[in-house]
Amino acid sequence: MQDQLTALLARAQAELPALKTRADYEATKARYVGPNGSLTALMKQMGALPKDQKPIVGKLINETKTALAALLDNALRAIETNELAAQLGPPIDPTLPTPDAPAGTYHPLTLVREEMCRILAKAGFTVVEGPEVETEFYCFDALNTPPDHTARDEQDTFYFPANARFGNISKKVPGEKYLLRTHTSSVQVRTMLKGPPPIRVVSPGRVYRRDTSDATHSANFHQLECLYVDKNVTVRDLKALLDYIFAALLGKETKTRFRPHYFGYTEPSFEVDLTAKHLPKVNKEWIEIGGCGMVDPTVFDAVGYDSKIWTGYAFGMGLERLAMLLYGIDDIRYFYQNDQRFLRQFA
Ligand code: DAH
Repeated sequence: MQDQLTALLARAQAELPALKTRADYEATKARYVGPNGSLTALMKQMGALPKDQKPIVGKLINETKTALAALLDNALRAIETNELAAQLGPPIDPTLPTPDAPAGTYHPLTLVREEMCRILAKAGFTVVEGPEVETEFYCFDALNTPPDHTARDEQDTFYFPANARFGNISKKVPGEKYLLRTHTSSVQVRTMLKGPPPIRVVSPGRVYRRDTSDATHSANFHQLECLYVDKNVTVRDLKALLDYIFAALLGKETKTRFRPHYFGYTEPSFEVDLTAKHLPKVNKEWIEIGGCGMVDPTVFDAVGYDSKIWTGYAFGMGLERLAMLLYGIDDIRYFYQNDQRFLRQFA
């Protein structure tokens, strides 16, 4: 009996770990411990044993039963593990990006902004940023735009309530109001207050006006501002730079012209037009693109620069207008609708 039990266990040890399927497992288990199983058969023989043998064989049978149960358990667990692995398929790394994630594209305004900054970088301009929440000093007062100027009207400008607080935007004048900047020209003032000339900066960014949305107006849009301060800067330098950047962006045949204008912060001031016949969807001879001029001495006074020593030019333009000219876009609202059919055209 003892030999039979040892042989039974040896067979089970060889056989059970090799089982692959649940059906094999059930059939094999029945062959050992089922009603007609070999261990069951041996247990049945117990009754016929002499009395003194019973405790010894009984103990052996129990040990064999326990060992067999452990082998069966292990075999079932191995089969279950295999079944689960088959359901899950090949191992994956869930932290990897999905292979079919669609490639993103740059927004046309980003494309134009980056291209302009690249072109200006070649002429020595560094990119600086200013806050979209501004105070009246940076947006108007320091730019020689007095309180009664129409640009400061409630109809044109988004003011914050008097008790609004922006901890990261310091006021220059106690009690002055916060507002959403109406132009990027405020960054001129912030830049000059940071340090002495020479200065050569470009500042692109979002601006806000109380405009009713239509094909050419939006309550928020984007501008690109440039400021150059040095000794002996002239209108010729300004014109040469504008000729260079627009030819670089829109093609060599692009010409610029100045029309006299008024801005508080420049003297003389001009509006800038471009020849546009070669651009898509433009039928006009000249297209207005921005404003410019020689920095007004009162602006230098406001930031503490000696206006007898320093001279400079500044200009600003709308990025939407530029992008519309460059790509032949006829409605400003397309820029903000996030319609993929529009955006994918710039991939
Ligand atoms: N700030 C003007 C505007 O928003 C544009 C402008 C005009 C910027 C003349 C300038 C400038 O730097 O010198 O319409």
